[in-house]
Amino acid sequence: MVVCFVVARWPNLIDRTVNRELDIIYLDNAASTWPKPPGVAEATARMIAECAAGPGRGTHRMALAAGRVLLETRSRLATLFGIRNPSDIAFTANCSEALNLAIKGFVRPGDHVVTTTLEHNSVRRPLAELERKYGIRTTYVKADREGNLDLKAFEAAFLPNTTLAVCTHASNLLGSVLPVADMAAIVRRHGARLLVDAAQTAGARPIDVEAEGIDMLAFAGHKGLFGPQGTGGLYVHPDIVLEPLVHGGTGSQSENSDMPDVRPDRYEGGTPNVPGIAGLGEGIRYVIEQTPEAIRDKEYGLTAMMMDGLAGIPGVRLLGPGPGKDRAGIVSFVAEGVESAELAFLLDRQYGIAVRAGYHCTPLAHETAGTAETGAVRASVSCMNTPDDVKALIGAVGEIVTSKRRA
Ligand SMILES: Cc1ncc(COP(=O)(O)O)c(C=O)c1O
Repeated sequence: MVVCFVVARWPNLIDRTVNRELDIIYLDNAASTWPKPPGVAEATARMIAECAAGPGRGTHRMALAAGRVLLETRSRLATLFGIRNPSDIAFTANCSEALNLAIKGFVRPGDHVVTTTLEHNSVRRPLAELERKYGIRTTYVKADREGNLDLKAFEAAFLPNTTLAVCTHASNLLGSVLPVADMAAIVRRHGARLLVDAAQTAGARPIDVEAEGIDMLAFAGHKGLFGPQGTGGLYVHPDIVLEPLVHGGTGSQSENSDMPDVRPDRYEGGTPNVPGIAGLGEGIRYVIEQTPEAIRDKEYGLTAMMMDGLAGIPGVRLLGPGPGKDRAGIVSFVAEGVESAELAFLLDRQYGIAVRAGYHCTPLAHETAGTAETGAVRASVSCMNTPDDVKALIGAVGEIVTSKRRA
């Protein structure tokens, strides 16, 4: 019965959500970007239609062609992030898996980890799991309400047994951007390594792992890199050896019961998402053509406009860094007299505007911002958005909040 219902409704759902003609204003890009640039959907579909073989698992033409797609996308990632050897990048299903691979693969019993109160649950939960299982210790350095981190407090958190520091590059709630190069210098001084969660920044601003001293970089493919969902990856510095997260088929060294030492095979057990990675390759091509600098500047312009407009609505309080300060393309806010979930619901149903309400998988950042009780509404742009999208949001929030305050 349930299955029939889902199947019967499915075509409508697709029509409503993927057709730009139907007037959806999509401002939930921090979750997954949409729309994707030209070529992404085509490349994904083409792999399914024409080249669905297992890469690295055969010598026939189709398997080799699939392998070339992985290599091409890996090489584009390396170009984008200033990585010398593309094999130091492992594909994962998303940023959460990349963070799990890095954290669980690196941290050992007895270790201490330094992190921040801006982290996503995809950092907090694997750390909590290691605390429970192996008694590792974690220090959460407190950011201020706007999402800024005091570097002196960060440095003071290091202990003799600190082996890893983990930080988000940009808060997925507050949009604040952390100074990763300065943090990397501190981490190095203490003989530890730095893992950066670039879920909100990969593709949307310049990142150079060598210049910035980043030892591991976890990223989502489906956000600022414009790939399909089910894609992501982890860069691992050549002198770091992680325990694999998945033990299984790699198509290499099959006689060996351990995972191979060779990269990226060591970290890529099982058949990868070749169609998704083909689409990701097209997304990265687009980012490289546009340049991350130009994308950052466009998003910043839209974000500044959004902040300006929302701040002018009586009863609306913006979270995160104030006007003129650096931030990712994220504006979260609370409105007096309207619950966040209701506001997001009305924006969708009455105005066709997609935003995200609730806790955004980061209760730590909500505590930091003082919104642990209320949650917040988050509107997030990509470089595909326009000033008209932002104007529509400001107008709709104004109408909803004003009518609720009158009621
Ligand atoms: C800062 C941050 N880290 C990690 C993640 C998890 O990313 P994914 O959904 O690709 O697993 C997100 C997702 O929104 C995020 O914003």
